[in-house]
Amino acid sequence: MKDDVLKTLIGEEELKERVRELGEQITRDYQGKNLLLVSVLKGSIAFMADLMRAIDLPLSIDFMAVSSYGAGVKTSGVVKIIKDLDIDLKGYDLLIVEDILDSGMTLSYIMEMLEAREPSSVKICTLLDKPERRQVSVAPAYVGFTVPDEFVIGYGLDYDEKYRNLPYIGVLKPEVYTK
Ligand code: XMP
Ligand code: MG
Repeated sequence: MKDDVLKTLIGEEELKERVRELGEQITRDYQGKNLLLVSVLKGSIAFMADLMRAIDLPLSIDFMAVSSYGAGVKTSGVVKIIKDLDIDLKGYDLLIVEDILDSGMTLSYIMEMLEAREPSSVKICTLLDKPERRQVSVAPAYVGFTVPDEFVIGYGLDYDEKYRNLPYIGVLKPEVYTK
């Protein structure tokens, strides 16, 4: 697996430190609120698991799964709901936990869909942001790291369903996805 990685973009310690900071910030901002963390599967699982333990507040969690990509590395522009939330959103302050904000298509679609269910508030916390690739405007309240326009893997992020278990964020060797 490591032989396929061209370079490390964000190391384990750096991830840990930043997640701790985000947790502290969210803890301050959501005092007295009814926080519901909504994890967008599958890419956000590592971030979600670490982030929720960095937040010192009573909170709830739920999961949804959408698909905007096939096996390739480019967006299709089509967002499909594969698994919806279980919880009725009324009265909750939602924080959508995402792995990466790229074109913005996925998150703008999810935001609109969830806002229609009338929660108290909806905000976005994304681990990574690739602003160079934005096609629709989406404003995340919390961003872990801004990354360049390279396809990244690890810490939940996949290429063709692999590499999610890498403990750091890396860039694949181009020959891995051109072969
Ligand atoms: P959009 O374009 O809708 O994309 O903002 C968000 C979703 O696309 C996937 N994505 C990536 N996955 N490495 C990945 O493993 C990447 O560099 C990358 N860029 C986008 C991801 O699933 C995200 O939720
Ligand atoms: Mg993916």
